[in-house]
This record gives sequence, C-alpha cells and structure tokens, in this order.
Amino acid sequence: MITLKSSHEIQLMRQAGKITAAARALAGAMVAPGVTTREIDRAVYRFIKSQGAVPSFLNYQGYPASVCISVNDEVIHGIPGDRVLKEGDIVSVDVGAFKDGFHGDCAATYPCGQISEEASRLIAVTRQSFFEGIRFAREGYRLPDLSGAIQRYVEANGFSVVREYVGHGIGTQMHEAPEIPNYVEPRMGRPRFLRGMTIAVEPMVNAGKAAIRVMPDGWTVRTRDGRYSAHYENTILITDGAPEILTDPDTKRP
Ligand code: MF3
Ligand code: CO
Repeated sequence: MITLKSSHEIQLMRQAGKITAAARALAGAMVAPGVTTREIDRAVYRFIKSQGAVPSFLNYQGYPASVCISVNDEVIHGIPGDRVLKEGDIVSVDVGAFKDGFHGDCAATYPCGQISEEASRLIAVTRQSFFEGIRFAREGYRLPDLSGAIQRYVEANGFSVVREYVGHGIGTQMHEAPEIPNYVEPRMGRPRFLRGMTIAVEPMVNAGKAAIRVMPDGWTVRTRDGRYSAHYENTILITDGAPEILTDPDTKRP
C-alpha cells in the first residue's frame, strides 16, 4: 500500500530529511586521502545522535554501521572499516536518519582528491540522471515515466543501470511501497504519482556492464566487471508541481 503523508507528517519528514542531508554533507566533506571509512562512520553516528535522531541503517537487518561507504567498483552497502581512502578513489556515501517516527535517506558519490576523467563523468551522469527522473515525479505522471527517464539518460551517456536494487517509498518505514526502479520493463506496475507520496529515488550506475555480485560479507555489492559504480539518492515529496527535495543536496556540513 502506498501511503500519503499528511501535512504534519510531511513536517516531520522535513526534519528527518534535513538531518540526513547534513549527515551526507558531513561524510562527503571528510572524504580525503588517508581517512578511514570507519572514521567517517563514527563522525556520522555522533552527528545523527547529537540531533536527537537515530541512524536508520544501524542494525537494519543486522547491518553493523550508520553509513554505507562503497569505494570504486563497490556499488552499494560497503561496510565502513579499516580501509584507508586514497587519491583517485570515488566514494559513495549512503545514510539514513530516523527522527520523531520518520526516516530520511540519501546518498552521493564523492571524489577523493584528483580522480580520472571517466570517474568524474560517471559521478556527474549519475547525479544528473536523478534530476532527469524527478522531472516526472509529480501529479499527472506515472512511475515508469520517472524510471524510463533515468534509464534513457544513463544509457545515452554510455553507462548502465543496476537492476537488482531499486528506490522505494519512505516514511515511518525506511522501505515502503512502491519500489522505484531505475529502468523500465513491460511487466512492471504503473502507479500514479499523487501529492503526499514520499519516495527515495536512487540511481545506481555502472561505468561498464550492469551485472553485480554480493561479496561474502553478505552486504558489499560490487560490479562484476570491476569497473567504477556511482550512486545518487534523495528523499522527495510529490506535489502538484516540482517535487520538494527533503534531503536538500545544498545542505552544508554541520
Ligand atoms: N540506503 C539503502 C536504501 O536506500 C539502505 C541501506 S541498507 C542498510 O535502501 F542495511 F545499510 F541499512
Ligand atoms: Co534508499
């Protein structure tokens, strides 16, 4: 069931979204050669707690950290640890915060120092594919309009969209209906967008082929071909006009 949020619930989601976006900005600003992924996780944990919120991912289905940090050929769900970031890495940070009953969820890929031309183009195309998609995230359109716009933009730029993981409705649960794929298939549902829906749109884009595999840690997802992957996500509110981005990407680090 797709839930529609009341204006009070939307106000609470703005709060959660703001904390989540600030946590992403904090993590992104920490990406630098010599920093460990665990240091970023600890800083994000402390920040989210300081805001009276709870990290949505911590203990979610046994996930052991507050952030997912996925480097280079890692697509999503990388577990923070002893890994030391180095010049040239691309670093995807995905974070969620839960406050007063509602979740925010957002992600972005950050360059570590100077990165390759291909990596830089991948990051830009992945981010832009989100904005191409959400042009259709408003009343009067249906889900495949958004999904198709993301897929077309990514493929027109020579990259590929991951199929096994998708965006999602979000609210009192981190994952609510509907699923928000970044590609179109004839057999999928065509729900209408209605004002008051809150969804997380999150293209995961590979520089090479779309195929992925899950590592033996049970979490880390990597590209099969070992090439780069990037991720970009915001939680948005559907309206009768342009969607409101609840995890504002211009939020400054706290
Ligand atoms: N951010 C992911 C999503 O959008 C969820 C992370 S899974 C977790 O669905 F285990 F790390 F929480
Ligand atoms: Co998400």
